[in-house]
Amino acid sequence: MKVVIAGGTSGIGLATAKILANDGAEVIITGRNPQKLEQALALLPKGVGGQCVNAANVVDQKAFLTATGNIDHLVLSLGGYKGLGLFKDLDFMQLRQGFEEKFFLHLQILQDALPYLSENASVTFITAVSGHARFPGIAGIGAINGALEVTVPILAKELQPVRVNAVSPGAIDTPWWSFLPESTRGETFQQYAQMTPVRRMGQPEDVAGVVGEVIRNSFITGQVITVDGGLGL
Ligand SMILES: NC(=O)c1ccc[n+]([C@@H]2O[C@H](COP(=O)([O-])OP(=O)(O)OC[C@H]3O[C@@H](n4cnc5c(N)ncnc54)[C@H](OP(=O)(O)O)[C@@H]3O)[C@@H](O)[C@H]2O)c1
Repeated sequence: MKVVIAGGTSGIGLATAKILANDGAEVIITGRNPQKLEQALALLPKGVGGQCVNAANVVDQKAFLTATGNIDHLVLSLGGYKGLGLFKDLDFMQLRQGFEEKFFLHLQILQDALPYLSENASVTFITAVSGHARFPGIAGIGAINGALEVTVPILAKELQPVRVNAVSPGAIDTPWWSFLPESTRGETFQQYAQMTPVRRMGQPEDVAGVVGEVIRNSFITGQVITVDGGLGL
């Protein structure tokens, strides 16, 4: 089984790569930063492949897919923080960029990958609980993730028998949060832990394990599976 993880050099994508590679899958990870890629590959079992590809560069992304060939499972785990914050302060340029960096990239990669997906392939978007939760500060980023989640059941029908799902995380301790200064990050994590009924931040492995299940279980399609410790309740 060949798995491509776009955004696999860090956080949730990296943890997913580890679980799947340890399970015997052929795994290929991508990311933009060569140093991050090198560090990620050093943490993964031998044989995991990797390439520096900026998914926003359509030519490079297509060339990568062509060179990769047949794909059994595609995991889309890239996206930034832009669009996060209270509505009164929302910078619409940032929100537009947020859509570019996640919503449009996930769908563009999937469209470009279609010719290479094997008949029983699966596609898993990593979205976010903001896409369907209701608390202040997530109107913008929630719109990005909610828009992706809306496409999931529709694509599952259009692309059948290819399976299409999303795994929707709550607050997870990954480098995604590096937009916050280190001095305040711990406090923010504590606040999220208090807002979360299981009383902790998530770990990337909490999400990666579910991604692995979704990939392996050929009877799951069209679903958005929330892994948030109850944050979105
Ligand atoms: N962490 C959370 O609390 C949380 C919560 C809910 C949802 N999520 C979502 O989960 C997904 C994964 O997040 P994470 O926490 O694992 O973040 P992360 O640790 O920052 O990982 C993001 C990955 O995407 C890659 N990437 C970003 N833009 C790219 C591009 N244009 N082309 C290729 N690769 C790109 C990054 O590598 P390079 O920087 O080298 O390109 C990195 O490998 C994101 O969509 C995020 O919105 C995260």
